[in-house]
Amino acid sequence: MSYPFQIKSQEQYEKAYRESVEQPDEFWASVAENFQWRKKWDKVLEWNFKEPNIKWFQGGKLNITENCIDRHLKTMGEKPAFIWEPNNPEDRVRVVTYNRLHKRVCQVAQMLKNNGVKKGDRVCIYMGMVPELVYAILGCARIGAIHSVIFGGFSAQSIADRLEDAQAEYIITCDGAYRGGKDIPLKSVIDDALIGNKKVKKVIVYTRTRTPVSMIKGRDLWWEDEMDHAETQVEKDGVVSFPAEEMDAEDPLFILYTSGSTGKPKGVVHTCAGYMIWTTYTFVNVFQYQPGLIHFCTADIGWVTGHSYIVYGPLTAGATSVMFEGIPTYPDAGRFWDIVDKHKVNIIYTAPTALRSLMGFGLEPLKGKDLSSLKILGTVGEPINEEAWHWYDENIGKKKCPIVDTWWQTETGACLISNLAGVTPAKPSWATLPMPGVQPVLVDENGKEATEKDEHGFLKGNLCIKAPWPGIIRTTYGDHERCRKNYFATYENLYFTGDGALKDDKGNYRIIGRVDDVLNVSGHRIGTAEVENAIDTHAGVVESAVVGYPHDIKGQGIYAYVIYNGKHGDDEMTRKDILQTVTRVIGPIAKPDKIQFVSGLPKTRSGKIMRNLGDTTTLLDPAVVDDIKNNRL
Ligand code: WTA
Repeated sequence: MSYPFQIKSQEQYEKAYRESVEQPDEFWASVAENFQWRKKWDKVLEWNFKEPNIKWFQGGKLNITENCIDRHLKTMGEKPAFIWEPNNPEDRVRVVTYNRLHKRVCQVAQMLKNNGVKKGDRVCIYMGMVPELVYAILGCARIGAIHSVIFGGFSAQSIADRLEDAQAEYIITCDGAYRGGKDIPLKSVIDDALIGNKKVKKVIVYTRTRTPVSMIKGRDLWWEDEMDHAETQVEKDGVVSFPAEEMDAEDPLFILYTSGSTGKPKGVVHTCAGYMIWTTYTFVNVFQYQPGLIHFCTADIGWVTGHSYIVYGPLTAGATSVMFEGIPTYPDAGRFWDIVDKHKVNIIYTAPTALRSLMGFGLEPLKGKDLSSLKILGTVGEPINEEAWHWYDENIGKKKCPIVDTWWQTETGACLISNLAGVTPAKPSWATLPMPGVQPVLVDENGKEATEKDEHGFLKGNLCIKAPWPGIIRTTYGDHERCRKNYFATYENLYFTGDGALKDDKGNYRIIGRVDDVLNVSGHRIGTAEVENAIDTHAGVVESAVVGYPHDIKGQGIYAYVIYNGKHGDDEMTRKDILQTVTRVIGPIAKPDKIQFVSGLPKTRSGKIMRNLGDTTTLLDPAVVDDIKNNRL
């Protein structure tokens, strides 16, 4: 495969950027030419941010799986799409070629059809990091069903909320998942999530851990049985086929739930054509992917990074990826480097949190690991501190590999601001320059272009984007008004990211973190309101306030102030009960790191929680602050 839209020099970047802003229609049409369409589009772009109404490639017809799979079969059917590395390094590695992927995805599509799934139906996927997860995702896309993948760390309650919001009728899950030393009982969590649910018709269960599961007659089915049956239907005389559904460019492809500053997580909706083009365009440019390179994105497919840079971007580009079931520290802190050595990985893309946690183990885990195959390093999900950046550069890249710091969000589909590996310069802890098609602007509280400078002379403000790029969020599922309010109403005619940023005089951006009430804990987005609601569920809790605090490894830790009125047990026991409650309501990822019992919450006169306790002048009751400060953990 070749990538005519790959940017190879600083000059080409500048030219592409200019064209993308001055003539977006021509620019994106020429990129879109490189994909497989059943029918070409009539109109490249129609948009306003007021409603918002954003449509890319209207009139175009396609199926994303024909781009991810079918079009590669002739020339590279036997090339690995995935090299799957199991949780336990002694277990068998699985290599999934494009031919094999095609067959499995056709089988899943047939299996879903056999079970009554139709175009537009919502299928919830709650699985571990096994190749079957990718088959399930693409099987949905092949028949035009909308997949909604839920990360394996979410609780039954969280799943129940998402099933309800998406009105999902089908679930694909596993008996369990291996994560490091733990077995996670996925099916049993699904069973809890389904108590009282009347909508879900079928639950398909893939066997991974052979943990005993309950199977309800008429509802629960084994993946293996269904897939065997489907195999006899899709394969005739050694030829595999299952016709892909013809989709409109703007038909929804998937829903992915993510936290915001208010209420329950919202279902971010991405559509077929724009998302496909954006993930592929950014994958090929940011990582400077070349055919034959081995790409290793360490994210979980339960988050957007896995959707875009394990599944859709790399596959559409015909890449070979390592898919990893485990965690960076199991069986030891050398696991990533073992994988790099074993599979001769060329590109590794991971989170600053993972790097900070591995730094803590020193250089011992690197001993004897050959990392010479590495060419490009990447980070995503949170600001990277300079110390971690240099550790990555020196010890992993041996100062020979460009590092890309990619800034983006679930809502942006793929990367918006990043250097292009080896093409545009890196600047430690700076995401640097916008991708072609992305027009950032920093604004002040009133939505005016920012003029305030920080102590180093960098422009400082809230990060917004002026115009749509192909992968922008289209709506929040079932509630378009929520989408408008959340992203397009804070500042007129701008998409508001929720992040604060700095800008230098060369146009580089540095993201400093959220300016709304969203925390970024180990690169996972968690709404403070969500955690507060979970804590308040505990019987003895009167009220709580959650704030972030700097955490050496996680980036941000969760600090909870709790007014407690119960009588049961001592403080330590109560803390544990509260943690257990949060685990039940959201999942272990949202557990506070610290819980302080207080007599009053740090609120302003208008009832807003002070996230920063420095300024006490506007507080309702300054005495509360003294109490809080004196008893801080
Ligand atoms: C943060 C993850 C600094 C940011 C892809 C954003 C980053 C949120 C970076 C989105 C980065 C992501 N530097 N901060 N390179 N990348 N963020 O939706 O606060 O899980 O708003 O998407 O992560 O998180 P999400």
